[in-house]
Amino acid sequence: MNPPKHFAWSDRSLSPDERAEMVIKEMTLDEKIQLLHGLGWQAIFSQPECGPATRTISVLGFIPGIPRLGIPDLQMTDSNQGVSGAGVKGRYATAFPSGEAMASAWDTALSYEIGTQLGHEMRDMGFNMSLGSGINMIREPRDGRTFEYKGEDPLLAGTLAGSELKAEKALHLITDVKHYAVNDQDAGRIVVNSIISKRAMQESDLLAFQIALKDSGAGAVMCSYNKINGIYACENPYTLHDVLTKQFDFKGFVISDWGATQSTVKAAMAGLDVEMPGNDSFGAPLKKAVESGEVPMDRLNDMVRRVLRTEFDSGIVDDPPQPGSPDVMRGFAIAQKTEERGEVLLKNKGSVLPLHAASIQSIAVIGGHADVGVISGGGSSQVSPAGGNPVPPPPALLKDPLASFMLVQVYQRSAPLKGIEAKAPHAVVQFNSGSDPASAAALAGKSQVAIVFAVQHESEGMDLPNLSLPDHQDALIEAVAAANPRTIVVLETGGPVLMPWIDKVAAVVEAWYPGIRGSQAIANLLFGDVNPSGRLPLTFPRSEADLPHPIHLAPPKPDPGHPVPKLAGAPGMVGVMMGIGPFFDVHYDEGLKVGYKWYDAQKKAVLFPFGFGLSYTTFAYSGLTVKPGEPSTVSFTVSNTGSRAGVETAQVYASFPESAGEPPKRLVGWSKVELAPGESKQVSVSVDRDRLSIFNESSNAWELVPGKYVIRVGSSSRDLPLEKQIEF
Ligand code: GLC
Repeated sequence: MNPPKHFAWSDRSLSPDERAEMVIKEMTLDEKIQLLHGLGWQAIFSQPECGPATRTISVLGFIPGIPRLGIPDLQMTDSNQGVSGAGVKGRYATAFPSGEAMASAWDTALSYEIGTQLGHEMRDMGFNMSLGSGINMIREPRDGRTFEYKGEDPLLAGTLAGSELKAEKALHLITDVKHYAVNDQDAGRIVVNSIISKRAMQESDLLAFQIALKDSGAGAVMCSYNKINGIYACENPYTLHDVLTKQFDFKGFVISDWGATQSTVKAAMAGLDVEMPGNDSFGAPLKKAVESGEVPMDRLNDMVRRVLRTEFDSGIVDDPPQPGSPDVMRGFAIAQKTEERGEVLLKNKGSVLPLHAASIQSIAVIGGHADVGVISGGGSSQVSPAGGNPVPPPPALLKDPLASFMLVQVYQRSAPLKGIEAKAPHAVVQFNSGSDPASAAALAGKSQVAIVFAVQHESEGMDLPNLSLPDHQDALIEAVAAANPRTIVVLETGGPVLMPWIDKVAAVVEAWYPGIRGSQAIANLLFGDVNPSGRLPLTFPRSEADLPHPIHLAPPKPDPGHPVPKLAGAPGMVGVMMGIGPFFDVHYDEGLKVGYKWYDAQKKAVLFPFGFGLSYTTFAYSGLTVKPGEPSTVSFTVSNTGSRAGVETAQVYASFPESAGEPPKRLVGWSKVELAPGESKQVSVSVDRDRLSIFNESSNAWELVPGKYVIRVGSSSRDLPLEKQIEF
């Protein structure tokens, strides 16, 4: 292989901005334009035999580089819970547990490990840009992409995504945070207009991005399909220029979601830098706009500089990926660790769990295709199932490639039944599909325990009709529980579900989408080889009537007479993916009261609260002290008062002075503590001043309101035994 050509800008002692500036001076207008858009749908769908498209790994995510100047192609891939679509190119990728499972671990070190594995696998396949981590707030738990995201709190989501993306960047990838912003439902996502106040945005959705960008140094932000207060997110001067560029001091580039670019001049002047995957706006039309002066050359150079400086800053120029074989075993290990730390024990009546392998004689395993695999989420984040989907979809679905993109339920080949059988070799373990509740109940009735796996498929591009388990699974669980009081429910869901049977079952485990080692991770929890330590990153409400929007605002019926927003001419995409028809407004009147903040403010009981999760041991809290400062230090003692080792996630919340106009409390920090039986540890949590501040719309800045604050500490947002008042 020829040694890389040396350029003046190859000098690594120069800053990314200096190096970018040097390249720009050498570029033609056409070369500048070329860096700012994808190949265009025609190239994508025609897959030409020659030209830059032949260099693509994934034709949907490609921007040709400038070889004469040593600027590499941009090879992009989705990587929310694994390198998406690797299988369609004959490659293997680790299928990680879903974003909510990652979030349930509350573990920044683990997030860094996940990012490292994702980064290695992306580079092994030749990718140099990750389309990153989704951190939209779970305002609307019926959002079809809940499974991809990291819960309802901006500090938790932003911190975990920041750690994951920091690891990817350390491996010399361009990383990206998405979908910016307030893209908090997916039904009708290109015709929905999110209406929300600036303060509410700043203290919820935008804060998650601010934290993730600050912690990771990510080089790209993906703007979303929706409108925000009447202006498309990819051409919104407030969110792109005032907030991202000025307030966040973001030096990287803004890339559109796929087909989310709605104009040339308006978008370029608002702060969009790159159109993907098309070129309808930033191809010839951008060149024309520059030549006419509608887009000044200064702004064009700024767009190009942001891309180039990010390429130098990320390391993709100096250290391009060298294709290799993914470390499958390390992927298995981290996927298993993620699920073992992310699965949440929600109920364990009479300590029915852990099961005792030596003494148990008969186990009924029911439903959820537990005999062949674990479910995963649909859409762009879908990781190809190694060995193929063990649950063949209805043939009709496969006829429409875009419908199948969302609606085919893909299982990863990690069968919980096999994990359970391996743990209890002396027991009679029988599987029942659950398709006939009476036959499932009969098996349960003659078994010592019954384990029901209940699944809820979610996908990008659509939302759930409700929060109930689909396909009559509630009836199945009721029938099994009536036949055997020692019924354990294992949920494989994208987000929260209603549980009308909760009082009739003995135990409930939320396993989310468990990933390629879900079988082992779930069995380890059920048989006690792992002490569950997951804590909910989002609230499980008692009823949809308790949600901020009891009636889910799905797009109005398509109205043929209504102009459909441009979606870069993608054939079929609009009809299937996004919902079409007139724009509709979603008034996020709950504002910054997302998730637990809403239920606290409304004084509503919940099924399971934010931060909740049981263990096979118990913990106690004592000795709270608070030292105000920058940062403030919150110290306390956590004790393991049970009979086995365990990991507690000690959470710190703050309640504000009345005058601050805040909900009853806000998460301001946490710490994971590993404790042997009887052991106690002193824990200290630093709380930044910003975490105790509010966003003041008139001064357009974060401010700490003087007054009396209460710091509360405990094991969930609804179990905070320690509190201390402090004055700022
Ligand atoms: C999709 C998704 C986005 C993804 C992109 C590329 O529409 O919204 O998350 O990164 O297109 O696949």
